[in-house]
Amino acid sequence: MFKRLAAASLLFATLAANADTVAIIGTGDVAGALGPEFAGLGHTIVYGSRDPERPKVRALVERSGDGARATTPAAAAADADIVVLAVPGLLVEEITASLGDLSGKILIDPTNPLRRGADGELEHSVPTSNGEIIQAAAPGAYVVKAFSTLNWRTMVDPDSSGGPVSIPLAGNSPEAKETVAELCRGLGLEPIDLGAIRNARWIEGMLIVWINNRYTDRPAFEFHLRRSD
Ligand SMILES: NC(=O)c1ccc[n+]([C@@H]2O[C@H](COP(=O)([O-])OP(=O)(O)OC[C@H]3O[C@@H](n4cnc5c(N)ncnc54)[C@H](OP(=O)(O)O)[C@@H]3O)[C@@H](O)[C@H]2O)c1
Repeated sequence: MFKRLAAASLLFATLAANADTVAIIGTGDVAGALGPEFAGLGHTIVYGSRDPERPKVRALVERSGDGARATTPAAAAADADIVVLAVPGLLVEEITASLGDLSGKILIDPTNPLRRGADGELEHSVPTSNGEIIQAAAPGAYVVKAFSTLNWRTMVDPDSSGGPVSIPLAGNSPEAKETVAELCRGLGLEPIDLGAIRNARWIEGMLIVWINNRYTDRPAFEFHLRRSD
């Protein structure tokens, strides 16, 4: 047991200190925001796409730094230390299962399981959370819920929010959360640890209240957690 913990600590120390290979599964808005930003921090980006040859994906690779490339989702994940699941929120279970063995990798989950209800409002559509669903689908991975509470435009330009922008994190591994926290700081964002992965369900709820006001005629607003210590 001690040896396993020591090995895990060494792995995280190495991940935190070195440039990593980061797989981003998906090539949409969140992938297009985080990929080039992580490349700017010195990481090598590999996109996992259902169609890695199409022009839109090639253009994304072009703006994602030295060594960036695109391949299939499973091949991208296999090569990576850190995997970002920038995919539709209702498909996370099947997409995670399709990526092969993710044991030992940090799995960043920015997804939100949104479904439109009969009255037109978006709803959180799973009984637990996507974070927990992904952790169950990849039990050997270190899942960290992150980046799900803010629009992709704020991810690349936090100053546009007019003040510090926090990123609530949830995950069962403190070391994995610290690695993701370091990525957040690199992007000019403020990570805040909200505990274990089961708390992902409350984090996912934060987006629902924001998005329902943003896209109805009710008043739009921004909100961010602020540390009080
Ligand atoms: N947009 C935001 O501002 C924002 C902010 C925070 C969180 N989120 C969450 O982050 C996740 C990604 O959001 P996004 O806006 O980047 O979504 P998006 O623009 O729709 O991109 C999703 C990507 O997932 C990949 N994909 C894999 N299987 C797919 C399938 N069966 N159908 C459709 N796409 C599939 C696609 O890449 P390929 O076509 O290359 O395979 C696609 O580009 C969502 O869960 C969303 O709720 C979004």
